[in-house]
Amino acid sequence: MSPAAFPPVKVGLLGLGTVGGGVTRVLARNAGEISRRAGREIVITHAAARNLDTTTANTAGMRLTEEALEVVDDPEVSIIVELMGGYEPARGLVLRALTNGKHVVTANKALIARHGNEIFAAASAAGMMVGFEAAVAGGIPIIKAIREGLAGNRLEWVAGIINGTANFILTEMRGKGRDFPEVLAEAQALGYAEADPTFDIEGIDAAHKLTILASIAFGIPLQFDKVYIEGISRITRDDVAYATKLGYRIKHLGIARRDQSGVQLRVHPTLIPQRQLLANVNGVMNAVLVKGDAVGQSLFYGAGAGAEPTASAVVADIIDVVRTLTADPDNRVPHLAFQPDALSDLPVVPMDEVETACYLRLQALDRPGVLADITRILAECGISIEALMQKEAPPSASVVPIVLLINRVREQRMNAAIAAIEALDSIRAPVVRIRLEYLDSD
Ligand code: HSE
Repeated sequence: MSPAAFPPVKVGLLGLGTVGGGVTRVLARNAGEISRRAGREIVITHAAARNLDTTTANTAGMRLTEEALEVVDDPEVSIIVELMGGYEPARGLVLRALTNGKHVVTANKALIARHGNEIFAAASAAGMMVGFEAAVAGGIPIIKAIREGLAGNRLEWVAGIINGTANFILTEMRGKGRDFPEVLAEAQALGYAEADPTFDIEGIDAAHKLTILASIAFGIPLQFDKVYIEGISRITRDDVAYATKLGYRIKHLGIARRDQSGVQLRVHPTLIPQRQLLANVNGVMNAVLVKGDAVGQSLFYGAGAGAEPTASAVVADIIDVVRTLTADPDNRVPHLAFQPDALSDLPVVPMDEVETACYLRLQALDRPGVLADITRILAECGISIEALMQKEAPPSASVVPIVLLINRVREQRMNAAIAAIEALDSIRAPVVRIRLEYLDSD
């Protein structure tokens, strides 16, 4: 069917910031190819932004307003693209768009992770679609890959570098020994960081994305509040350097893993072997490693943030919606990959019960018997040491760093051992613990 056979599809855009600007430019630049792919022309006819004076978007031919509701209620528009971010008013506007009989495309991971269950139920009731490819890993089509390309597999785990800002900071700390605030400021200037950069640094943004990945990988409802979250703000340049000496890199990973008791959902800094491809994903780049029973390990790599990479995913979702405008709603790809009435109630495993290997860094007074105390505590807790490294103290320092690699152990037991070690008067708390994942085939 030639694109000219149907009238153009009219789109309403909420948000003309970094990503909104990218979407307007990509849609305009690639209009010819996009309409050949979608079978229709796609035009943004109505757009809303908080501050129209500062936008760098290509707004040619659009009605502009500062009232998002005007766009959501515009009867001419059949798709609403929500790029405002945040929970409210985005949630209310998206629900209203669905009730108004409009499909929705969003890049808002916070919204989907927290309110996705409600939004998808509203979409199903209204027979509408909600596209959210851009919510996870920016330009990497990981939602489509898991939901469709890997649909024949029983997925076992997903491990991803899903926050570009955190990866950029860790990369710069390792490669150039730069300071944390300086690198963060650069990531913000480049448009990678969230409006509130603590979301990037403290792992909340990655947890939003992991929530979504876990749901589509395992067919479970979105459960953001059950994710264990640890950020990168306590990682020092020393930790980065010790990890390198031991043959590892520190990456901030989101991990969703099915085990015998349920699903682990966790976001934390992680040592991974240097030989792993994932260990070599640097700068603002994202990557998601998926393990399926049939496919084995599959790695998806690309730009996880930025105007046009994110626009790439948003525009692909718009095209998907346009292609299925005439399809029977019951035969569309389900939002969470599994049929809504076939979601599983697999429990989320409490972090205390998760087993991992880990790296410990201790600051110990340089006196006889300290190592013996530490190894005694570990032995009493049934914890086995894989490697141990003690660095010479700099001449003026009162403490010496001791670095240990610990074999796989249940979190609860490791917590007890760390508490006992921190209680020694020869140790300066806190003990730094960074979990370690080999990411081999099991
Ligand atoms: N702040 C996010 C990041 C942007 O750094 O990855 C993309 O979600």
